[in-house]
Amino acid sequence: MAAPRCDQTAAWAALRGHHEASGGFDLREAFKADPHRFARFSQQAPHVFADLSKNLLDTRTGQLLLELARECGVEAQRDAMFSGEKINSTEDRAVLHFLLRKPAAERTDSAWAATKSIASELRQVHATLDAMLAYAQQVRADEAITDIVNIGIGGSDLGPQMAVLALQGYAVAGKRFHFVSNVDGHELAAVLEQVRPQSTLFLVASKTFTTLETMANANSARQWFTQQGGTDIARHFAALTTNVQAAKEFGISTTFDFWDWVGGRYSLWSSIGLPIAIAVGAQHFRELLAGAHEMDQHFATAPLESNLPVRLGLLDVWYRNFHGFTSRSIAPYCSALRRLPAYLQQLEMESNGKRVDRQGRLLPYATSPVLWGEPGTNGQHAYFQMLHQGTDVVPAEFIAVRKASHALAGHQPLLLANALAQAQALMQGKHDAGGHRDFPGNRPSTFLLLEALTPASLGALLALQEHRVFVSGAVWGINSFDQWGVELGKVLAGDIASRLGTGDTSGLDGSTAGLLGRLRQP
Ligand code: F6P
Repeated sequence: MAAPRCDQTAAWAALRGHHEASGGFDLREAFKADPHRFARFSQQAPHVFADLSKNLLDTRTGQLLLELARECGVEAQRDAMFSGEKINSTEDRAVLHFLLRKPAAERTDSAWAATKSIASELRQVHATLDAMLAYAQQVRADEAITDIVNIGIGGSDLGPQMAVLALQGYAVAGKRFHFVSNVDGHELAAVLEQVRPQSTLFLVASKTFTTLETMANANSARQWFTQQGGTDIARHFAALTTNVQAAKEFGISTTFDFWDWVGGRYSLWSSIGLPIAIAVGAQHFRELLAGAHEMDQHFATAPLESNLPVRLGLLDVWYRNFHGFTSRSIAPYCSALRRLPAYLQQLEMESNGKRVDRQGRLLPYATSPVLWGEPGTNGQHAYFQMLHQGTDVVPAEFIAVRKASHALAGHQPLLLANALAQAQALMQGKHDAGGHRDFPGNRPSTFLLLEALTPASLGALLALQEHRVFVSGAVWGINSFDQWGVELGKVLAGDIASRLGTGDTSGLDGSTAGLLGRLRQP
């Protein structure tokens, strides 16, 4: 696809000039000058209302950013994904996770799913989904199974764990969910202390079925199971993987597969979502998919100026490349979304943490911001100090849910008041000549609001985040779907693991050799 590099477009130069000219942009003045600013910079997308008005942008910024998207061919890149082109060029793969949420009945000759191969993939998707959901229902009905232990890491852990927590209000009674990801044996040991072989189902979740941490934990779990007298591996272990053969060789016969065109961090919609399906049931899992599908359609068809993933992705570019902001803080004002920052961290940073373009050429501009955060109101009593008065400006993303699902009086208004107040305080600031009590204000934030935290709204929120990452990656001209940066450490860990056994430090740098020596001390 022949699109110019983003920093060589006319829009980029115009944005640079616009940024310099509007250096003194003040949100407080912007609201005074434009009584319609809230309406102008907010919108309803499927299940998500977004207020972008407290961001450092005006109508001209929005227009120039849209021109940038057009010049960089964002729409063509989006359509290439939706039509099944192999846009993950370094792995020679298509990127079709959206297909996992597409209803079986939907015509496949629509604008964004034209190819025959997609139609056949869609049939496989639904056959696997039906089998996976039937199994989930069977496990839910099986009162003898009280504990589900998901063993997986990265995308095979963060998505399912985040979603099971988020949808705890929908969870089946009588089952506990455990997530073991770290190769630190304390994690698995702590879970094994709580469970019994006859009432536990282990789900070994790994796209590749080769990941060191997951294999180590799976091996130990199987060993524990047999040592504790467990016999029926087929009943107590299931594998969620694209590498069914490796799972079989491991000794697991109950397997649910998926495909190489699902990136790990985009996989909770696939068989990797089995713990979610067991927790909330087949119908709610289908609603999760349906909510995400609504957002897919919005992204695929809404005009760019009212396309929320496009607007958010472009805002991310504006902050990263023109304001030079290095991070984004995620503040879910909803305790059930407490693992969302970690999930989004992988989504953004593993996708867009790249320094070369699709052809492998070094880029002269910044890409992925650092994502971090904790649920509100906890963050307020920890690091919000820095957001309000620190030397760096950190755009904040508030994610709030209007209706609570508990019956405790008074909590929800307090929670929502705090979310609004923090966004307001960041923007308004407070002048105090004394210095220490002075809040500069004019600090930007985005406010995403869900009506209620349901499977459908969660699905839409997550798909929104996936697509906004796509948009900024498309502007930057990078491959958002590979992750070569994790490989070197994996290789070196293998080498060091064997040296820890032998004590061989030959060829190592002084620090690694010194530390290895200390670790080997009796
Ligand atoms: O090492 C990074 C990574 O490949 C992630 O992209 C992925 O989500 C995680 O490891 C787990 O991989 P797998 O599902 O193959 O075990």
